Amino acid sequence: MLPLLLVPLFTFLFVSPSLSVNFLYNSFNASDASYLELINDARVEGSVIRLTNDSNQFSFGRVFYPTRLTMKPTSNSTAVASFSTSFVFSILPDISDSPGFGLAFVLSNSTSPPGALASQYFGLFSNATVPSVAPLLAVEFDTGQNPEFNDIDGNHVGIDLNNIESESDGTQTAGYYNSSGDFVAVEMRNGQNIRAWIEFDGPQFEINVTIAPVAVSKPSRPLISYRNPKIANYVSTEMYVGFSASKTNWVEAQRILAWSLSDTGVAADINTTNLPVFSPETASSSLSAGAIAGIAIASVVFLLICLSGGYWFWRKTKIEEEDEIEDWELEYWPHRFSYEELKQATDGFSKNELLGLGGFGRVYRGTLPNNTQVAVKCVNHDSKQGLREFMAEIASMGRLQHINLVQMRGWCRKGNELMLVYDFMPNGSLNRWIFDNPKTLLGWEGRRRVLADVAEGLNYLHQGWDKVVIHRDIKSSNILLDSEMRGRLGDFGLAKLYEHGAAPNTTRVVGTLGYLAPELATVTAPTAASDVYSFGVVVLEVACGRRPIETWAAEEEQVLIDWVREKYLDGRVCEAADKRIAGQYVVEEMERVLKLGLACCHPDPQHRPTMKEVVTVLVGEEAAAAPAAVLSELAQAGESVGCSGGDTNAEEPPLQSTV
Ligand SMILES: *[C@@H]1O[C@H](CO)[C@@H](O)[C@H](O)[C@H]1NC(C)=O
Ligand SMILES: *[C@@H]1O[C@H](CO)[C@@H](O)[C@H](O)[C@H]1NC(C)=O
Ligand SMILES: *[C@@H]1O[C@H](CO)[C@@H](O)[C@H](O)[C@H]1NC(C)=O
Ligand SMILES: *[C@@H]1O[C@H](CO)[C@@H](O)[C@H](O)[C@H]1NC(C)=O
Ligand SMILES: *[C@@H]1O[C@H](CO)[C@@H](O)[C@H](O)[C@H]1NC(C)=O
Ligand SMILES: *[C@@H]1O[C@H](CO)[C@@H](O)[C@H](O)[C@H]1NC(C)=O
Ligand SMILES: *[C@@H]1O[C@H](CO)[C@@H](O)[C@H](O)[C@H]1NC(C)=O
Ligand SMILES: *[C@@H]1O[C@H](CO)[C@@H](O)[C@H](O)[C@H]1NC(C)=O
Repeated sequence: MLPLLLVPLFTFLFVSPSLSVNFLYNSFNASDASYLELINDARVEGSVIRLTNDSNQFSFGRVFYPTRLTMKPTSNSTAVASFSTSFVFSILPDISDSPGFGLAFVLSNSTSPPGALASQYFGLFSNATVPSVAPLLAVEFDTGQNPEFNDIDGNHVGIDLNNIESESDGTQTAGYYNSSGDFVAVEMRNGQNIRAWIEFDGPQFEINVTIAPVAVSKPSRPLISYRNPKIANYVSTEMYVGFSASKTNWVEAQRILAWSLSDTGVAADINTTNLPVFSPETASSSLSAGAIAGIAIASVVFLLICLSGGYWFWRKTKIEEEDEIEDWELEYWPHRFSYEELKQATDGFSKNELLGLGGFGRVYRGTLPNNTQVAVKCVNHDSKQGLREFMAEIASMGRLQHINLVQMRGWCRKGNELMLVYDFMPNGSLNRWIFDNPKTLLGWEGRRRVLADVAEGLNYLHQGWDKVVIHRDIKSSNILLDSEMRGRLGDFGLAKLYEHGAAPNTTRVVGTLGYLAPELATVTAPTAASDVYSFGVVVLEVACGRRPIETWAAEEEQVLIDWVREKYLDGRVCEAADKRIAGQYVVEEMERVLKLGLACCHPDPQHRPTMKEVVTVLVGEEAAAAPAAVLSELAQAGESVGCSGGDTNAEEPPLQSTV
């Protein structure tokens, strides 16, 4: 008898050494918290799992089931195991139109995937768009749109194979197909409880993802059915299973309310009847009736006191300065100046302190109480919504810091007027030192250094950060000189404000006539290459001491680029150099700089150098080999100008000229 009993036991122990994983959490509690692997900011809060920490500017969190799933028999096997999982999540931002983050369901070889960024990409991926093969597979529930990763919209579900960029045939707008086969969209970013089902069919290399609001029973047709044998490459023998999310400046609560999984059959059904609901209106839903009554009475009393006392103050504030602060504003930037502070600093926005009427508004000089000088730029905008979207965008740029960028110190909003506070640049803008008859003409050494400075600043915007920042309005009047006559790029990102405010379906071209890359006259959105074009115009301006378009000049000389290009094709490019600085430069160097300017202004964006290459030409040692490579593009520039001339589209109408 005994041996007979032992046989099945031994078979079990030796034939299938890994235990199957089956679980169901209808809610979470403190003892689950000590059992689950909670990484970084993830925690059990009440009966749910929260993934990010609202009070940290950069936050990520992951939760994993402690037992790994056996996904392959051996590491080089292509046979993949199956599992089925279901969970309920809720994503609730504090500010409904702030940038979204979302969360991801993860299958990972490690609880800390290498290269993950703390603040973005679900706390799972690096910024690299090129996927390397590593055992990391995620289903993203993405509530933000990253156009650089081809996100289809700001509310989608996608299959990610060790890559923040979802598989193009594995991404869909969030929603489900109802029983009559119609697509019903599901908003994932309003806090509602959403149930998801993921069927991972290893033998078929297929992943089915289905979502629906909890009140809707499981739709029969999945939202995504992704089938591809390459899935096997992203699976290792044993993998952790769980969730991950991250955030930067904006609060977005990503919650997991319930979770079930089975690697032997269909995941257990979650009982959704008693799940908590998170929405802005029902924040106190978990309080008892007594507590609510108590709070209500206290609130009424408090409200009465506040009303009587506060009304007077409110009226006073409202009438005197209309400087009402909205909650969302406090989210942005380290420092919000009060309108009073700025009014005092600029002597009541006095005419005497007016530094200029720039492209985007008036600029005043201001002196802060600690005697620091600042420049206050007042930008008017016709829609508060436009301002808000713009601020969300530029706030993330508040982190950009580079010696060749004009540092932003803070901001203030009054009505539809935005005031941006920058470091004061005592020597004003570059154009004042080279055009017409300046008091002191900037010499060649100074000019060359400023060009190199600006190239480095722009290179930083393009490459130095985890996101490419397009300046969109590079011109000599946006290049400022600090006390040491070093160049700094100002106003980055500002041009974008005017896009956000534009009516839907009309993409306005933003920028400045004479500096706009030709491709922007058509439908193309601004790119790093269009910035390079504008920078090229600046290079030519500085070398030639001429504005990009001079109406006083003879017709064939009016457009700077065409004029220099003509000279170049005639082999006399150095004749274009500024006569006023003759003798200050080595001829070869001037020639190289002019050629660089032309190369940057190549009509075809593909053929323009990158800012990195430009930096090597301007900063690299004089006779470095790099220039030759970059400037070789010029030959093509010469060829293609014959036909159309890299036109400056001087007659294109939809240009933004703002005050
Ligand atoms: C947590 O929930 C589990 C069931 O999921 C239960 O067995 C356990 O007693 C609970 N622990 C606490 C501390 O409430
Ligand atoms: C969030 O982070 C802050 C600072 O790092 C910490 O003090 C706080 O306890 C965290 N909050 C939660 C809920 O974990
Ligand atoms: C897996 O790879 C190992 C060596 O890396 C090899 O010895 C073994 O035969 C391979 N197994 C299969 C099934 O290919
Ligand atoms: C998976 O993780 C284990 C350690 O947990 C490591 O030894 C193994 O190399 C990893 N596999 C791959 C393919 O990265
Ligand atoms: C990713 O970021 C690093 C540093 O932040 C940068 O060096 C690298 O070029 C970036 N890669 C991509 C593809 O953006
Ligand atoms: C499915 O959705 C469509 C469009 O929303 C609706 O017209 C239709 O009545 C729905 N069908 C069912 C069975 O609910
Ligand atoms: C996935 O969805 C497809 C299409 O509806 C279906 O044919 C297939 O059986 C599903 N696979 C699983 C594992 O549910
Ligand atoms: C779900 O839970 C509720 C209360 O928690 C219970 O009354 C109900 O019977 C459960 N439903 C199922 C299908 O188990």
